[in-house]
Order: sequence, then C-alpha cells, then structure tokens
Amino acid sequence: MSLPKVFITRPLPHPAVERLATRCDCKMHPEDAPLDLQRLTEACREVEGLMVVGARVGHEVLEHAPRLRVIANVGVGYDNIDVNACTRRRIVVTNTPDVLTETTADLSFALLMAVARRVVEGDRYVREGRWRYTLWECLWGADIYGKTLGVYGLGRIGKAVARRARGFSMRVLYYDIVRPTFALEQELGAQFVDRETLLREADFLTLHVPLTPATHHLISVRELALLKPTAFLINAARGKVVDEVALVEALESRRIAGAGLDVFEQEPQVHPVLLTLPNVVLTPHVGSATYETRLAMAMLAADNLLAVLEGCRPPNPVNPEILA
Ligand code: DGY
Repeated sequence: MSLPKVFITRPLPHPAVERLATRCDCKMHPEDAPLDLQRLTEACREVEGLMVVGARVGHEVLEHAPRLRVIANVGVGYDNIDVNACTRRRIVVTNTPDVLTETTADLSFALLMAVARRVVEGDRYVREGRWRYTLWECLWGADIYGKTLGVYGLGRIGKAVARRARGFSMRVLYYDIVRPTFALEQELGAQFVDRETLLREADFLTLHVPLTPATHHLISVRELALLKPTAFLINAARGKVVDEVALVEALESRRIAGAGLDVFEQEPQVHPVLLTLPNVVLTPHVGSATYETRLAMAMLAADNLLAVLEGCRPPNPVNPEILA
C-alpha cells in the first residue's frame, strides 16, 4: 500500500519530520523562506496532506489540489487559510492551540515591560557609548505594578497574560464577546467591563483576538482617541486588528504613550514611521518562537495531519462540522 503524499511548506524540527516520514511520503520545502503561489500550487497537486507554516492557502491552491484531505496549520491563528473554501471541499483544517499559549503570553508581557521601562532604548544608549556619567533623569519610564491592564479578548492567551499581571499587582479589566465563568474571573482577578470602559481605563491595552472580518481594524481612530495619553498598546495577536495608519498618527502626536508590537498590517513590511519612533518596541512576529514551543507546535501539527490521513479525529479541527 502506498503512503499518503504530504508536503511541508518550511523546514520543520527533525522529530516532527521523523514522525511523519515513517507514515507518509513526505516532501519539504528546504528553505525557511516563503513559497510563491506557483510553487506552492505545484507542490500541492498530488498531495493528500499539507503542513503549513505561514503560507497563504486560498482557492487558487485548493483548485489544483484535488486529492487534498487535510491542511495542518502550524500556528493557532488560521487567517492564512480559506477555511470556508476548505469546508466546501471537505478538507479538514487543523491548528495548534494550547501549546503556544504561555510562550505567546510571555512575549506580550515582554513587550509591555520593554516599552514601559524603555529597555530597547536603554540597550541602545549603552551600546552607543552615550552613558558617560549617570544622569538623574535617564530614560524614565512608566510603572507597571499597580497599573491597570486592559485585556481585549479573554481567550487562552488573554487569560495567560491576565495571570502574569497578577504577579505585578495589576488591576485587570477585560472585554470579550463571551464571558467566562464567575469562578474563572475570580481566579484571574479579572473584571469584565464594556469596551469603552476598557479603552478609557487601561494603562496597558493588550490585544488577544483572532483576525476575522469582525476584528479587522478593531482598534482605529475612535478607539485610540479613548485611550489615556499615558497608555500603551500591546499587540501580539494579528497586525490587521489595528489600523496601523491611525496608530502611527496616535504615537507620533503622543496621543498615546507608546506601543509594543509583534505583528503588523502588511508583514514583513512595517510602517516606515514606526521604525523611527523611540516610544515603540518592535519584534518580527515571534510570539511563539522558542525552541520548546516551536517543537511542540510542529509535533502537534504532525499529530493532527496523521490523524486525518489515518481516518481518526484530529485533536484540533478548525472545521469539525465536516468530520463524521
Ligand atoms: C500563531 O500561532 O498564530 C502565531 O501567530 C504564528 O503564526
């Protein structure tokens, strides 16, 4: 019996590839660089399984992949995949929740701390030899402990960030369209507020929503105008959740105090003004990028892929309605 053909869009950690290689006929793009549409389409022609890291998979690819049965996305967000088109073609889409929750929360908190305490500016100051004598008024930042954290989206990562905030004696407010149980609110010490209150009261507003048509430009001119002039915006969710032009304008005019950003509207392009602003800390979409977590994501994606190819229910289906 021939093994199912699988294509992997980026080189993945060896243990994950090994797990697949014994049970599939695997091909892997050898470079850690994006594939253009033509090469991706070509690579998908014969495959039954596709493991996706970052690549966009839309109807152009699906139309040329008649045998495809499963797309295992290595990541929790799956806005890069046309899930509706997959569902119509009865292709199972899976993602990798849970394994990256704590790591992504760590990065959100790292951005918060870095921008509040001007860590990147301080690093530059020392390296550039500008620390000739100790100034009293050197790189004053903003306190974190005792401040109000506004969590927009209390899903897995939002909750993990709220837990971290407790260690800093922060007051935690949150807004979400779904309310968790009272017991969970108690455990997190998080208080539900309406959207406007969240925006008005947060000293740090941290975003943890998926990118959907409803969350596109969730934070734009109106929302930024509600923030305190001393507030910081933290975004390690998806770039398109924030209207980047409006954010640049708010930062340039000091309408808000600063931002910590891991994600951008047109990655890997970053608005040129953001690159010039000292009150912004930028990282290149690395929320889940640790050795441990990237390995766990790859292993979980491999499990999802194998489960579907072997006729079992995958652990993390995104379109479970098509599973028997
Ligand atoms: C995720 O898992 O969604 C990360 O942002 C990587 O894309």
